[in-house]
Order: sequence, then structure tokens, then C-alpha cells
Amino acid sequence: METMGNLRRTRYCGEVRAADAGAEMTVAGSVAKCRNKGGIIFADLRDTTGILQLVFDDSTDPAVFEKANGLKTEYVLIAKGTLRERTAKTDKIPTGDVELFVTELRVLSEAETTPFEIRDEVNVKDDLRLKYRYLDLRRPKMHNPLVMRSKVAKLVRDYYCDNHFCEIETPMLIKSTPEGARDYLVPSRVQPGRFYALPQSPQLYKQLLMLSGFDRYFQIARCFRDEDLRADRQPEFTQIDMEMSFVTEDDIMTMNEGLVKHVFKEALGVDVPTPFLRMPYSEAMDRFGSDKPDTRFGLELQNVSEAVAGTEFAPFKAALENGGSVRLINCKGLADQLTRKTIDKLGDVVKTYGAKGLAYTRLTADGETSSFEKFLTDGQKAALRAAAGAETGDVLLVVADAKNDTVFAALGALRLEVGKKFGLIDEKAFNFLWVTDFPLFEYSEEDGRYVAKHHPFTMPKDEDLDKVESDPGACRAKAYDMVLNGCELGGGSIRINDPVLQDRMFRALGFTEERARESFGFLMDAYKYGAPPHGGMAFGFDRMIMLMLGCDSIRDVIAFPKVQNAGELMSGCPETVEEKQLRELNIACTPVE
Ligand code: AMO
Repeated sequence: METMGNLRRTRYCGEVRAADAGAEMTVAGSVAKCRNKGGIIFADLRDTTGILQLVFDDSTDPAVFEKANGLKTEYVLIAKGTLRERTAKTDKIPTGDVELFVTELRVLSEAETTPFEIRDEVNVKDDLRLKYRYLDLRRPKMHNPLVMRSKVAKLVRDYYCDNHFCEIETPMLIKSTPEGARDYLVPSRVQPGRFYALPQSPQLYKQLLMLSGFDRYFQIARCFRDEDLRADRQPEFTQIDMEMSFVTEDDIMTMNEGLVKHVFKEALGVDVPTPFLRMPYSEAMDRFGSDKPDTRFGLELQNVSEAVAGTEFAPFKAALENGGSVRLINCKGLADQLTRKTIDKLGDVVKTYGAKGLAYTRLTADGETSSFEKFLTDGQKAALRAAAGAETGDVLLVVADAKNDTVFAALGALRLEVGKKFGLIDEKAFNFLWVTDFPLFEYSEEDGRYVAKHHPFTMPKDEDLDKVESDPGACRAKAYDMVLNGCELGGGSIRINDPVLQDRMFRALGFTEERARESFGFLMDAYKYGAPPHGGMAFGFDRMIMLMLGCDSIRDVIAFPKVQNAGELMSGCPETVEEKQLRELNIACTPVE
């Protein structure tokens, strides 16, 4: 191993071009690939920007050639030389027209054979990649998203700062408050038996900053939620968090459409048309069975409850008599592909969403088959077909349930499944929309009470203010989500800035006065001293990068992500700690029944 001596990098590998031919330069990086052809040695040198071919031949200084002869993949080098045009050019890499004829070479670090090859398109188990995450991140496909992430963070900062926002950090060790997901807790050493929580978001602090007169705040904030992982969910993630004073829902949506437009244009060269479509929650559910509709394709839901009203077909009858509905999607022109067997498999999909079954009608050119139409009158059948716009070649997939939420969840998921399976989705499109007018509350079967759909500080719609106590289920909120390609990219609301109304909200959520004070007293007090009207939102930053780059999981855009059991495979956490550490914290671990 050698030191750099007096060699210092003058250029990055991925940035040199044919126009630089003839220039002397020094590059540094790791050997991605070595080819020794006897009298000539090629080494692909990789740095954070890309790859440059190094070449050593019979005109190379013999001592340098000898060194090159010993190179292996992942050796770390610094090399000085003259850039020249290649004889065998390639358009596979941006630097494919040139190579560096090396005159000085220093091997800064040797490398053992890596547990897997460091190149894209290599088939390695996820667990092994995560254990050696630092090696996996050398692969351009894993490396580049993090570079993009950094670029987007800068664009976000520039945009908000240019619009009068102030970036302010909020604490990581905070008070655990009820509502929301499960907290990660941190024991206090100096106050035995007391705990901090890690923030699920900076929500309360950013509201207080509006009361402190900062007017417009943003932060690229780390958040922690002890909830189950999914492809778009990590226990530890990052938000682009913002809040503004003296604004309406419309102002916040417009400001953040501007952010998205700026980021997509500068980072991807994509023009995002604004303003985005705005769709009330109720319409999103009716048409797409989802509050985060993927609008890149059709297959919209149809309500056929009226068409089949009065039916004796037991599943439909039970649904309708118990306040539910019968709805379907018409899979246009898919009759030949949606065979009985495929439909049976789709039946399993809807069952995972609580539906009891999937009824169908297949209208092939050779005839019709249906699991339920024989139980309908001719009139009902005709009305259902008309409502569905059914024609030969179509397949109708029908779900009935006494709970509309179950019908929506099942058909919403089915719609996505069919869309994906039959290639109906334009993978290149970026379809943005706002879903607005969310319900203020949702009923929790588990808790046997209403809980806040967004959070307890969300302002009800003006026209629903008098229903907070009398008809909570019918109250809508000044809340909005930004949806991109069927993913909730962000969400927010206008906040309650009237202590009397906030008090009513806590009561509607089942808080006693004592418990509300205990949990949120500091906030309730703050609002007594003059609070501007304010609101904001937060984007999932990881999700944004994932969607911009078309990655399958947010894991791919997080440097050191967690896996399904919330562990981190490389360092091996969570881990037990020494008795002494627990004693200092006044904590004893005992098994709980
Ligand atoms: P919310 O809970 O909707 O709102 O979160 C905002 C956005 O953060 C992203 N997100 C996540 N990303 C990855 N992993 C997770 N576990 C995760 N949870 C949420 C989503 C989501 O839309 N304080 C409010 C915002 C506000 O009202 O201003 C909040 O946190 O993209």
C-alpha cells in the first residue's frame, strides 16, 4: 500500500469527455474491472461520478506497468496520465470515447475478494447486499439515487428559501403524545422512570414556530414511527416538512405544486403541469376505491347497487340491506386473458381486503359465463350491464359488502392488480393530484371511538363546524394529500388556531379535560397568546426520490435502511446492551406475558 504522495485528484472519472483529449490529469477511485491482455492492461476506474478506462501498454514506464500488472478489482488507486481518444470507442458509458494513458500510479488500498461482484444486474440475495451495504452502495444503480437525493435536497432548500421560508431544526428527544403511530421511546438517565419519544414528525413544534412569528418554516426532518414496514414505509424516514402563516388550503397547495415543478424540472428535466387536479376524498373513493388513486389508467369503479336493488342473490341482498353497496370494475377487452383461473386468483386478492368473494361476468365472443347473473331478473341484468357499459370482450368483477370501506378497499386493490398484470399503467408518466376534503374523523373499531384521520389539530371545514359533536362521521377537514402515481407523496392541513375549537376537538376524540391538558397543555396554552391562521404539509422525501427514479422500494433511496423486522443487517441492531447501561437508566428487562 502506498500514500498519495504528491498526487492530488484534478478530475472526476465520469466527467471527462473527448474534448479533454490531450490533457494531463489525475483521477482517483476503485478498480471496477481489470483486463490483462499480455502487452496491454485496461483497468476501469470507478469514482462517485462514473467510470474511466485506464490503459497501460508497452510505452508505459516499466515500473508503472509492473504495478498495473498486480491490480485487482476494488483496489483503490490514484493515477496520473494523459487523456487520449480510444481506438475502440463504446457508447455504453459517457466516457466511452476516451481513456487515460497512465504515467504515475499509486495503489492506496488493496482489497480482498468481495462477497459479491460490484456491478449492476448482478443477482445477489437482499440480505447479503444489506449486510455489506457499503459495498452494495458502490454499484452505480445503488449509488446514483443517493447522489440524486442530495441534489433534490438542495433544490428544496433553494425553493423554500427563495420563497421567504426559514429552515429551523426541532428537537429529536420530545414528549410522547397520544394519537398517531407508536412512538420509539428513549429512557432518561437523569430522570429515572421518565421517557422521551423520538418525533413521528415535527408537527407540534412547527405549529409553535408559527406562533413565534417565523411566518414560514421548513425542515428536511428525520421522523420515527414504530410501525410495520412496507415497500414505501420505513421506521426511520425523512420528511420535507413545511408550515405557513396567513394562508388557506389553496395557498399551501399552490406553493407546493411550485416546489414539485421546480424539483422535477431541475433534477429530471421533466415539465410537471400545474395546477394539479383536485379531487374530493369522496370522489376518489367512489371512482378509484382509494384515497390515493393511481390515475395513470382507467378501470374506474361503478356503483351498481341501484341496478340490482331488490335482488334475491344473497351476497348482494345482504350487502344492500345492511347499508353497503354492490360495485364493480369493467375490465374492458380482457375477456380472453381473464380466464376462470385468473379470476379465482383475483378472488384471493379481494379476500385479503376483507371481501367475502368476487362475483364475475365474462363476455367472450364464444359466449357468456357469470357467477351471479342467473340470480338476477332480466331487468336487473340489463340495468347492471348498462351501468357497467359492458360489451362483448369485457369482464365485470363485482364486490358486494355491508361495509362500503370493504368494497372500496377490495376493488381499489383489484383495480391496481389488474392494471399491473395487464400492462395498463404507463410506467413513464408522473400523474399528480390533490385529494382534498378528507373526513375529519374516522371510527376506530379497536378503540371504540372516533380518532383523528389526520391529527387532532386539523381544522374542520367551515360548513361542518357545527357537526363536530353531533355528527363527527360527516365532518370534513381542511386537509389534503398530494398523490403521485397511486402513492401518498405528502399530506397536510390547516390547523386549528382557536383554543375553544381545539378543546371541542379533544372532547370529540374522547379526551377528558385532564388528559388533554396532560398531553397537550403546552400547546393549548400557547394558542392563548395570539396565533396567526396557519397550515402546512409534509412530503415523504424518501418516497419522492423513489418515485422520481422509478425504484421499487424506499430502501433503495436510503443509505442504511431497516429490514422487515426493523433491524439493520450491517451493524446488527437492535442489540441487547450491557447490564451496566440498563442500571444507569434504572431499567430492568423482564419478560411480559
Ligand atoms: P403524514 O403522517 O401524512 O403527515 O406524513 C407525511 C408524509 O410522510 C411520508 N411518510 C412516510 N414515509 C416513509 N416511511 C414512513 N413510515 C412514513 N410515514 C409517512 C408520506 C406522508 O405523506 N405532520 C404531518 C404533516 C402535516 O400535517 O404538515 C405528517 O406527518 O409520504
